[in-house]
Amino acid sequence: MTQKKAHLTVDGLDNPIELDVFEGSTGPDVVDVRSLTANGLFTYDPGFVSTASCESKITYIDGANGVLLHRGYPIEQLANEASFLETCFLLMNGELPNAEEKAEFEHIITNHTMVNEGIMQFFKGFQHDAHPMAILCSVVGALSAFYHDSLDISNETHRKISAHRLIAKMPTLAAMAYKHAIGQPFMYPRNDLSYSENFLYMMFATPCEDYKVNPVLAKAMDKIFILHADHEQNASTSTVRLSGSSGANPFACIASGIAALWGPAHGGANEAVLNMLNEIGSVDRIDEFVARAKDKNDPFRLMGFGHRVYKNFDPRAKVMKETCDQVLAELGIENDEQLAIAKRLEEIALQDEYFIEKKLYPNVDFYSGIILKAIGIPVEMFTVIFATGRTPGWIAHWHEMMSGPYKIGRPRQLYTGETKRDFVKVEDR
Ligand code: SDX
Repeated sequence: MTQKKAHLTVDGLDNPIELDVFEGSTGPDVVDVRSLTANGLFTYDPGFVSTASCESKITYIDGANGVLLHRGYPIEQLANEASFLETCFLLMNGELPNAEEKAEFEHIITNHTMVNEGIMQFFKGFQHDAHPMAILCSVVGALSAFYHDSLDISNETHRKISAHRLIAKMPTLAAMAYKHAIGQPFMYPRNDLSYSENFLYMMFATPCEDYKVNPVLAKAMDKIFILHADHEQNASTSTVRLSGSSGANPFACIASGIAALWGPAHGGANEAVLNMLNEIGSVDRIDEFVARAKDKNDPFRLMGFGHRVYKNFDPRAKVMKETCDQVLAELGIENDEQLAIAKRLEEIALQDEYFIEKKLYPNVDFYSGIILKAIGIPVEMFTVIFATGRTPGWIAHWHEMMSGPYKIGRPRQLYTGETKRDFVKVEDR
């Protein structure tokens, strides 16, 4: 098949520049612009709105049609049929595990859930009102100070064990951040519990009495982790890839992803949604806030709405909304004020010309906070939950990049600053 081409004519250049056009297995074609520098040109794309930063086989998003596939499997099917650990295996290895592989992977992860006792000293240094994301950034980066035996990124076995450690230890570290905040003792993980049961156990059990995890809540937690597991080249995943491209160790790369995720425009949105619903306070104040969200002079935005890629419903938001209804019903929570505000806000926004014209729909963060709050997880922990769920996605992209040829990420710029000028002595300024 002949190579597809693009031809770029530039004023001032004698001949058009011929560029290769590559086709994926699905989705938009890409124009290979690497030869532009030879013609003294850069592309210009702040925020990477139109830039494919890499080739990947992990996740595909069709934003116009609200489609999300992990290794070809629709997110709705994974969320309703798979476990989070099956999804982790799929993201990392490209295929769903068979029964033997599933059992082995669960055994490996279960037996890496403890953290080095020295890590506990880090927590003692934080004040009780330290934001759990600040703690998570720090302690995940610090893991590389403990696991020297698996830091050779060119060694596939090292990469695998680091991946297993990160997936296994994130819930333990997350629960430790919560226990530190409420002044309760840390709970050690238990090998007789599933991944999400173990997390809820470490969050809510105490040494004083037996604690039985509600299986409905454990299933909801597992589904929430799946819905956050990966999302193509989003800001935090791109950060992980960029950190990895310099050869940084996997723990440092994941810590950089956690830092990027924290922002309210990204993973911090779930916490911001709950704070927004609290600020709105009642259904009859919704119109006031919708008007503010539409006002160009007001920095307020409807948190949990809009997306760089989805210009249709975020398929994860649909599953999250269904799970929300299930969890609240299971807990006997009938008239949750925040859920009532969220549902009414969604109705109003989806009928409003501004949101229709700008294709703003609820995203993954819009309903997740309501479920997390119903499960008993405090607002400050919401982005920590997101980070725990996103860890396999970050690792899969890091591993995919490290498994083949890659270059250090080093974008250029459009320079509009001062051109060369000579130094002026202070007495002459
Ligand atoms: C996540 O990338 C990913 O995949 C991320 C994520 C993942 O799984 O990794 O899906 C997770 O981060 C979901 C998004 C969570 N963030 C929020 O809910 C915060 C609120 N949303 C916005 O900040 C915004 O929608 C973004 C950041 C999500 C997307 O921003 P873009 O793509 O840069 O779009 P934009 O800011 O250029 O907005 C386009 C227009 C603008 O108006 P104009 O300048 O064209 O006149 O829509 C407006 C914006 O002002 N707009 C909003 C809005 N979101 C966009 N107006 C009001 N409320 C909003 N929420």
